[in-house]
Amino acid sequence: MQIQFDNEPLEKIAADALAVICFEAEEKTTATTAVAPSVSPDPAIAAQSGWLEELRETGEFTGKLYEMATLYRPEGVSAKRLVVVGGGKREKFTAVEARRIAGAVVRSLKPKGVRAIALALRENASAEEAAAVAEGAVLGDWEPDKYKSDPKKNEKQVETFTIAAAGGGGESLESAIRRGEIIAEAQNLTRDLVNEPANKLTPGLLAERAQQVCSEWGLQCEVLDSEAMEKLGMGALLGVAQGSVNPPFLIIMKYQPARQFGGDHLALVGKGVTFDTGGISIKPADGMEKMKYDMAGAAAAIGAMRAIAQLKPALPVTAYIPTVENMINGNAQRPGDIVTSLLGKTIEVLNTDAEGRLILADAITYAKRQGATHLLDAATLTGAIGIALGHYNMGAFTNQQDFLNRFLTVARTAGEKAWQLPMDEDYKEYLKSAFADLPNIGGRHGGSITAAWFLREFADPTPWIHLDIASTAWLEDGKPWMSKGPSGVAVRSFVQLALDWNHSGA
Ligand code: BES
Ligand code: ZN
Ligand code: ZN
Repeated sequence: MQIQFDNEPLEKIAADALAVICFEAEEKTTATTAVAPSVSPDPAIAAQSGWLEELRETGEFTGKLYEMATLYRPEGVSAKRLVVVGGGKREKFTAVEARRIAGAVVRSLKPKGVRAIALALRENASAEEAAAVAEGAVLGDWEPDKYKSDPKKNEKQVETFTIAAAGGGGESLESAIRRGEIIAEAQNLTRDLVNEPANKLTPGLLAERAQQVCSEWGLQCEVLDSEAMEKLGMGALLGVAQGSVNPPFLIIMKYQPARQFGGDHLALVGKGVTFDTGGISIKPADGMEKMKYDMAGAAAAIGAMRAIAQLKPALPVTAYIPTVENMINGNAQRPGDIVTSLLGKTIEVLNTDAEGRLILADAITYAKRQGATHLLDAATLTGAIGIALGHYNMGAFTNQQDFLNRFLTVARTAGEKAWQLPMDEDYKEYLKSAFADLPNIGGRHGGSITAAWFLREFADPTPWIHLDIASTAWLEDGKPWMSKGPSGVAVRSFVQLALDWNHSGA
């Protein structure tokens, strides 16, 4: 799908469908004025208002979010169809709604065989809103059907998605749209990777995919194999990997800007467990197939690095991606095993299913040794985060409040939700081992917080943010604007943080 920008009058746009946003009527008395699409005073569009009025009167179209009604062969308009799409309450409309509406328009028109879609921006729409529309369209177009062999599945494709800003826009809207397209394409790359089943994406194949991204977009790439990691002393990571015939890797993707401000260096660390059986502390069979998405943090880092390579912020960013398979062969790690991490701290592995923190511990230590001044990790780390926050917010943890405040601001700009959980020293009490420096699990309580504390033992004193994306990286049900399956969460926030680094108080 190609994203285009067009500032011709709306009636001149030659699309198969021209979508305009129409809000809920504000009050009964002003219903007639709310009927005309408020995106544009364009007379050709307003001329259809008789149709819209009727739709309103019958209650077929009320303007609720994602509601749609189609008029074929609209009068005086080049487009073959005019689609009114509900924008909800005008005063509540933000870039978040704009992003979703664009996705919903694509997802509703694509199965009807519509190939050229145009969506009119609201009058005086901000650059942020225009970028969000581009993102929504690209994200809405993505399907998790790669392995379906139906020969007809690709027959219905949207070829162009035109973002229309009648008479307005110019440079800033156009470049915002281009940025939105890049970021959403990167998010779709992340979703492609997460969607791969574990037999098609082993740690070695994930490393190959990362290498491809690097060579295509001009990033430096280094991949440490198990021999190199043994020499370094990454005992925590290697302990997890030893139960699989598929060897582990530490993938390093480096972006160095041509011009750099200051001495900051951001490390993105992503959990890359290509399959998590739980190991000897095995998971229940029911739902285990989902554990192919236990590399969503890794995939988010890879996607973000691609967008960063294209958008070129002034900040050096390096991704450190530990990737393993948590399997159960005769050499698998046992509960009670004690491993020595790269940092030198010993860890008693009380539960082999708490493997993510073990591989991240060594990756975080390595990132610090390589010169990272700020650490940001994303990991499908705990089931407990879904109990605490449900499917809507990533869990966010930090050892430096200012850094997290900045992150929460950019995440909001990027249209992603994160909610901070506490990191009081009290919780550290849950992490006690009689036999080693640390156990890899706390007790039954505060599971996401003890997992974060475990990571913090390796991150301190470097400013660090941990995102637990276990309950947000996979959409159980499709939404009008997005298919079910991998969400690509965290990519947009990662990229936005790098882009806004020097404006966000760093
Ligand atoms: N990969 C899982 C976490 C997870 C759960 C991701 C559900 C996505 C959906 C992680 O490795 C894990 O198994 N964590 C354990 C920790 C426990 C043993 C302390 C968990 O959450 O049950
Ligand atoms: Zn696990
Ligand atoms: Zn896991």
